[in-house]
Amino acid sequence: MESPFKPDVLKGKVALITGGGSGIGFEISTQFGKHGASIAIMGRRKQVLDAAVSDLRSLGIAAIGLEGDVRKPEDARRVVESAYQHFGRIDILINAAAGNFLSAAEDLSTNGFRTVLDIDAVGTFNMCHEALKYLKKGGPGRDSSTGGGSIINISATLHYTASWYQIHVSAAKAAVDATTRNLALEWGTDYEIRVNGIAPGPIGGTPGMSKLVPDEIQNKTRELMPLYKLGEKWDIAMAALYLSGDTGKYVNGLTMVVDGGLWLSKPRHLAKEAVKELSRVVEKRSRAKPVGLPTSKL
Ligand code: HXC
Repeated sequence: MESPFKPDVLKGKVALITGGGSGIGFEISTQFGKHGASIAIMGRRKQVLDAAVSDLRSLGIAAIGLEGDVRKPEDARRVVESAYQHFGRIDILINAAAGNFLSAAEDLSTNGFRTVLDIDAVGTFNMCHEALKYLKKGGPGRDSSTGGGSIINISATLHYTASWYQIHVSAAKAAVDATTRNLALEWGTDYEIRVNGIAPGPIGGTPGMSKLVPDEIQNKTRELMPLYKLGEKWDIAMAALYLSGDTGKYVNGLTMVVDGGLWLSKPRHLAKEAVKELSRVVEKRSRAKPVGLPTSKL
């Protein structure tokens, strides 16, 4: 799908994208590159990084791949330094690296719970912490007339209510959202860095979708969606462009939900055709025979 943004909205910017070699992270890398940014992608698997970098370069995008695990502060530091050494600045950090699997709470080990918190929550903190030096107003590579850079943390909506077999991810994404707001407050005030999040719904063609919603139940799930369709990676990339570019210059501390309204959805307990009739009957009945408070209280 065509982008509604001008092709130069990120011209001259450098984006570091964790988990940028696959899924939503790769689409953000591609769209940011197509809109003028140079791209550094970070991931654990060399072959995934190599393939992604070669795809990006074939589109004429300046891109490098940097191997590392966001859970390790030393990897975060090395990758951030390498991105800066290569491109001479860092303007945007996207934390898209995440870990997930389905598990009933009672079957999940402490290490299973901790692993997902480590990747999603600690990893996001590590990357933000190491990138601060370069993102802050007046940091290396930034000219003094421009403000600070921007951060986007990819979250989820699982923890807004509760989600089956996702206690570890719900806890991790709640921590990510808290991190987004706290950094927006501290770093927005002190360094003019904007920190926002995006909470995607089910997005077709992603590792998350195939892990969490196996093919056999995808059609069933679709029936519960207000917009009756899966989201596209493009939807998330466009939200990221909006938040990272000048369009989002007054947006700070927001986690934007991009899920077609899915997290609000609940089963309809009464058919629409039956509502009018039933509600009149109930109304008539209650007028004929008032119920509730004793007459002395009326
Ligand atoms: C129960 C499991 C498990 C499973 C792993 N564990 N898989 N427990 N059910 N299916 C437990 C292990 O037994 C172990 O605990 C602990 O988790 C760590 O497992 P490792 O395999 O050693 O960890 P690691 O190699 O670091 O791999 C991390 C991973 C893996 C998260 C488990 O799946 C991974 O690397 N994923 C990255 C890619 C990914 O998941 N992408 C999808 C993101 S989707 P014990 O006690 O045995 O030592 C996404 C969407 C979120 O984030 C929002 C959706 C709406």
